[in-house]
Amino acid sequence: MRNVIDILDLSTQEIDSLIETALDIIDDPAKYSDICRGKKLATLFFEPSTRTRMSFEAAMYELGGNVLSMASAASSSAAKGESVADTAKVISCYADIIAMRHPKEGAALVAANNASIPVINAGDGGHCHPTQTLADLLTIKREKGTLSGLTVGICGDLKFGRTVHSLINAMSRYEGTRFVLISPEELRVPDYVIDESIVRKGIPYTETADLDAAMPELDILYMTRIQRERFFNEEDYLRLKDSYILTADRMKNAGPQMIVMHPLPRVNEISVAVDDDERACYFKQVLNGKYMRMALILMLLGEAGKLSGPAVPRMIQL
Ligand code: NCD
Repeated sequence: MRNVIDILDLSTQEIDSLIETALDIIDDPAKYSDICRGKKLATLFFEPSTRTRMSFEAAMYELGGNVLSMASAASSSAAKGESVADTAKVISCYADIIAMRHPKEGAALVAANNASIPVINAGDGGHCHPTQTLADLLTIKREKGTLSGLTVGICGDLKFGRTVHSLINAMSRYEGTRFVLISPEELRVPDYVIDESIVRKGIPYTETADLDAAMPELDILYMTRIQRERFFNEEDYLRLKDSYILTADRMKNAGPQMIVMHPLPRVNEISVAVDDDERACYFKQVLNGKYMRMALILMLLGEAGKLSGPAVPRMIQL
């Protein structure tokens, strides 16, 4: 059974194919509006979410399928002590595909190892968030016309931000990528991500705390929220929470080509005035996320033999 737990579970050819499918869905949504009729997506969210859960659900509805949704972790059997492994086995009896978010790193992998239907990781603790990265990649492709040769600045909580780790893993596979990693010392990208995805591949990168100085050279500025829920103590969070605030005034440091991205939710790190700047792309990411999730659901259900037809993108056998 094919699952998507990490963005690296998808080859770059598969990502290209997902992007092509998403663009085709944007062009001709009617072609896809009934393709998942009779199929069910289960969304298991053990952590708060607005965008990701609704995006998966909207994606499945727009494919003509149905959704089974757990209202919250507190109202599920997890509150009685059921393991993720058992939950995955149970949900496999009801649904055709699972999207799962969980506060513990590795939880989606445990679910995948126990489910008999495809599992998509919708965020596991501070580890990774591959479908946010799919949204990010489609946004970059649509806005910049390419995924290669880009200088990618990532700013904020690079330690706990799972979207950051997945984005680095993905962009490190495209030729000519450079990273500028902007964070307070305590919130730097974890060593395992730097070692495996940047240093080992010989990708040029710099680490800095100075956002203003970094901005002129960037093609992309990916802002992130300080991840309050993953801090060990509130004092550290309060000290670091306003480390970076992107204002309209600060945007003057950037070139006309620099797009601003953010996985959302934003707290304080981008002032509302920046929303009117045509370089601001974070609400476009939200819409792109729905199209990429539609493409991914199609691909995984097609691979599982539950869908067929010319509009179903093929996964490449690895
Ligand atoms: C992100 C997440 O859950 O990691 N949100 C999202 O899915 N778009 C980012 C965040 O919570 O900061």
